[in-house]
Amino acid sequence: MTVNFPPGFLWGAATAAYQIEGAAQEDGRTPSIWDTFSRTPGRTLGGDTGDTAADHYHRRAEDVRLMAELGLGAYRFSVSWPRVQPGGRGPACRAGLDFYRALVDDLLDRGIRPVLTLYHWDLPQELESAGGWPERGTAHRFADYAQLVAEALGDRVELWTTLNEPWCSAFLGYGSGVHAPGRTDPVAALRAAHHLNLAHGLGAQALRAALPSRAQVSVTLNPAAVRARTDSPADRDARRRVDALATRIFTEPMLRGAYPADLLADTAGITDWSFVHDGDPGVIRHPLDSLGINYYAPTVVSAATDNAPPRDDGQGSAGHSPWPGADRVAFHRPPGKRTAMDWSVDPTGLHELLMRFTREFPGLPLMVTENGAAYDDKPDGDGAVHDPERIAYLHAHLDAVRRALADGADVRGYFLWSLIDNFEWAYGYSKRFGAVYVDYATQARTPKSSAHWYSQVVRTGQLPP
Ligand code: NOJ
Repeated sequence: MTVNFPPGFLWGAATAAYQIEGAAQEDGRTPSIWDTFSRTPGRTLGGDTGDTAADHYHRRAEDVRLMAELGLGAYRFSVSWPRVQPGGRGPACRAGLDFYRALVDDLLDRGIRPVLTLYHWDLPQELESAGGWPERGTAHRFADYAQLVAEALGDRVELWTTLNEPWCSAFLGYGSGVHAPGRTDPVAALRAAHHLNLAHGLGAQALRAALPSRAQVSVTLNPAAVRARTDSPADRDARRRVDALATRIFTEPMLRGAYPADLLADTAGITDWSFVHDGDPGVIRHPLDSLGINYYAPTVVSAATDNAPPRDDGQGSAGHSPWPGADRVAFHRPPGKRTAMDWSVDPTGLHELLMRFTREFPGLPLMVTENGAAYDDKPDGDGAVHDPERIAYLHAHLDAVRRALADGADVRGYFLWSLIDNFEWAYGYSKRFGAVYVDYATQARTPKSSAHWYSQVVRTGQLPP
């Protein structure tokens, strides 16, 4: 069957500043928490850092050309906070802003819509040294930064995203410690989650004040498609706890203006939440133009028992859970196909999430801001990179989006993660998510067969049979 996506559907690819730019010490950029973390022995696989990454800072024009050749309609990228506001406070750095102005101009020249994310995890180190996300002041610094970027780029960027996956910033950064800044303190993780919510609200207000009225404001979350292993009350309760900590901790305050009562109860032994000030919920709740959803794989949980002891889900480090208040939850590895991240391939989770938000937040447009897979791609003797597994993954997930559209979800776009191979955080360069292969020795770019496949989808707006 030939399948159509609606006219105007935004077809894109996504990246993030620290993962692709490199040029870590150029033009006045100061270190972010990811510079500090990745330069600390033992934190990333092989000691990899983003110092050079895919050298996008110097290859911007070539990369935009590549996007145009693929026929992309949109490009989702992030701004490096320490590049445009060194140290995280005070005046802008002109050279840093010039880079993003040039990027946006290149995109617009080629008819590609820029989708700008303000925060994709690279907090200026100075702000972490002052306490980081567990401290309230960081949310105010973020709002100042949002204003600064909006004033510089608001005349040419229409689609704005405050935060990318605040769950990872809070719970992997301050809970399990597998991400920067590598702290392992459950109270700090919950405080960070609240201050990220506050940053979103204050940042959204700053954007509205500084941007023309046609601008659109969004946030990107990584809600979990959580399944209980059995229908037992104990397993269903484990599901509820993880759902609260993964998803509702952000969606409820952002879209309804209150933290879920069950979340407060589950974490009452850890914190009394007195870091939530009167008035914060009203700031955090902000009418959004769309909600960005990143989806890779579902999460399967049960209540911990002697047979199924609590174990992390690949996101935790020995002994430190990213799930405060869910210590008695066990995470399971579902059978079936897996990617190189060891994540299971299950597109039903994407359909489930799109339908859930359609039901829970009627009238709120949705955007799949990331979806994709890592595989062990290698060039063949002729230098071509064949990645049939990625094509199958993308096909199945786009089919899930198509089914959600048919079932009434208002999905406005889809962004493949990622345009090019890049620095996969704690996994360094060992994991390749790109539709385009990067040879890090030469920085040569080679579109994989999935890039050619995706290009056809983008150009026709149709999934092949
Ligand atoms: C989500 C994050 O936003 C992105 O930075 C990361 O590389 C992908 N997931 C894959 O793990």
